Amino acid sequence: MTNKLKYFIGNWKMFGNIADLKKIYQIHRFCSLKKFKIKNRVVMCVPNSLIYSFANKLKSKSVSIGAQNCHYKEDYGPFTGAVSSSMLKKAGAKYIILGHSENRAEGETNKIILKKIEAALKNNLKVIFCIGETFKDKLNGKTFSILKKQLKSSIKKNFNIKNIIIAYEPVWSIGTGRTPGSLEVEKNLKFIKKEFKKIVNKKNTPPVLYGGSVNSKNVRNFSSNSEIDGFLIGGASQSPKKFIAIMKNYYK
Ligand code: PGA
Repeated sequence: MTNKLKYFIGNWKMFGNIADLKKIYQIHRFCSLKKFKIKNRVVMCVPNSLIYSFANKLKSKSVSIGAQNCHYKEDYGPFTGAVSSSMLKKAGAKYIILGHSENRAEGETNKIILKKIEAALKNNLKVIFCIGETFKDKLNGKTFSILKKQLKSSIKKNFNIKNIIIAYEPVWSIGTGRTPGSLEVEKNLKFIKKEFKKIVNKKNTPPVLYGGSVNSKNVRNFSSNSEIDGFLIGGASQSPKKFIAIMKNYYK
């Protein structure tokens, strides 16, 4: 375990109502403990319908509110049903998940993701950029080439690294209860960091998180893995009890 800042980011996906603000308060209570606050960042990425109300009521520095996707146009336009990164920022989002495999599965390409990242960065949102291989890619030994392609096509040299977080999420582990072993995650995270440095031609890399079926039990497997800068947590983030147990057990 290192002293580096750790991220615990929740992804509520298409779940949650206004009354669920109480869940965020519960998490906030735990995260406001001074000893926890100084070395961790906690973000809850909620549906667009909740961002304004949650961000407004939660005047807290211990938990930030984030969005889960946006349109590639940075401000306004004739795009029915779409929401831009500037709108999300104005509503109170500080972070945004982009490139999630559930969106890729609906047709989002590396090229579109690049435009979305550019738009979000312009609007000063911190981008949680998701990449990961499918099970077929993994079986065919293509994990590195897929990760490299996803990075190369959506990260540009001039990006402000300070506003980027990468989430390594193997598609086969999202919502399945299956996770790669700690060594496999370490190997892939090292690769991601190496490739990222090549693209931006800098010594530093952004934080790289692991995501996919993280729960309070398996998080222990990753506690001693110094490559992991935090977690992107889907299903378990909808329960404050489970989310807090993940944070507690990580440090146990
Ligand atoms: P999961 O989702 O934790 O439910 O597997 C992770 C994600 O989709 O970000």
